[in-house]
Amino acid sequence: MTATLGFVGLGVMGGRMTKRLLDAGHVVVGYNRTRAKAQWLIDAGLRPASSPRAAAEAADVVFSMVTDGAALEAVARGPDGILAGLRRGAVYVEMSTVDPEVTRALGVDVAARGAAMLDAPVSGSVVTLEAGQLAFMVGGDAAVLERVRPYLTAIGPTITPVGPLGLAVTMKIATNLGLAVQMLAFSEAVCLAEKAGITRERAVEALLRSVVASPMVKYRGPFVLGMPAEAWFDVGLMQKDLRLALSLGRSVGAMLPSTALAFQFLTAARGLGVGESATSERAVRSTAST
Ligand SMILES: NC(=O)c1ccc[n+]([C@@H]2O[C@H](COP(=O)([O-])OP(=O)(O)OC[C@H]3O[C@@H](n4cnc5c(N)ncnc54)[C@H](OP(=O)(O)O)[C@@H]3O)[C@@H](O)[C@H]2O)c1
Repeated sequence: MTATLGFVGLGVMGGRMTKRLLDAGHVVVGYNRTRAKAQWLIDAGLRPASSPRAAAEAADVVFSMVTDGAALEAVARGPDGILAGLRRGAVYVEMSTVDPEVTRALGVDVAARGAAMLDAPVSGSVVTLEAGQLAFMVGGDAAVLERVRPYLTAIGPTITPVGPLGLAVTMKIATNLGLAVQMLAFSEAVCLAEKAGITRERAVEALLRSVVASPMVKYRGPFVLGMPAEAWFDVGLMQKDLRLALSLGRSVGAMLPSTALAFQFLTAARGLGVGESATSERAVRSTAST
């Protein structure tokens, strides 16, 4: 059954998610701060909204997918924000990777509007999303999840309920530290092999055929041979997630030594002036410079 859906934040991930919802036959009323970046979606049938509030007012289910906590506050609050436009009984599905406390605080205000909120961050990337293989972790009421399940599965097939609101994004932060740590180990292996006389191409080929080739390493590893035109997940976003992990680690008393080390390499990568390129190449350059 098709529906009218609101969508706020049409960037690398949000834009492609919206395209999948349009392809599934849904009407999507979408807002992006920089409207020009949404033109390809408008050409594909998106109905542009003049504000996050307008996107929320148009639908019983509204999604957001923005950079970080500050961006989420900017689109959710204020007179033109999602909260101001939420219908009574609506479901707000928040998918950005942010501090769980930001999510929970928003959940209180969503409930005060007579609506329900889920946190539904995703694991995967552009390639996973375009292949329809994105994995959701979902926090919040199970009955509310059932109301939006068809829309989530139009984006990606795997939904893992994690617990109350805020725990999905907590799980996402725990998941993503592995992305940086694994890429750092991969980069070290390439660096060692190359300096010991194996070509970079052959080293990458061997690693991608080995037991250390996780799905993520399989699609990101080849970036050390050539970068995509558009960064899928740049150093700034990666470092944002590690900062969230380190902060959470401090508050719950979890020791995260490999996360702390990967964080420092990302700082070094920014120092090398590659802050807006993809994480893998930055990591390998930082590793190679040691
Ligand atoms: N890329 C990945 O592989 C990946 C995978 C899983 C999860 N994530 C998470 O998904 C979220 C979005 O990532 P992305 O890759 O789609 O990033 P992105 O391409 O940079 O998109 C970010 C979106 O947030 C909007 N935004 C940023 N600051 C804003 C503000 N102050 N007010 C209003 N809108 C604002 C941007 O609008 P403009 O277009 O106007 O800048 C854009 O729509 C992040 O939390 C990221 O950690 C990313």
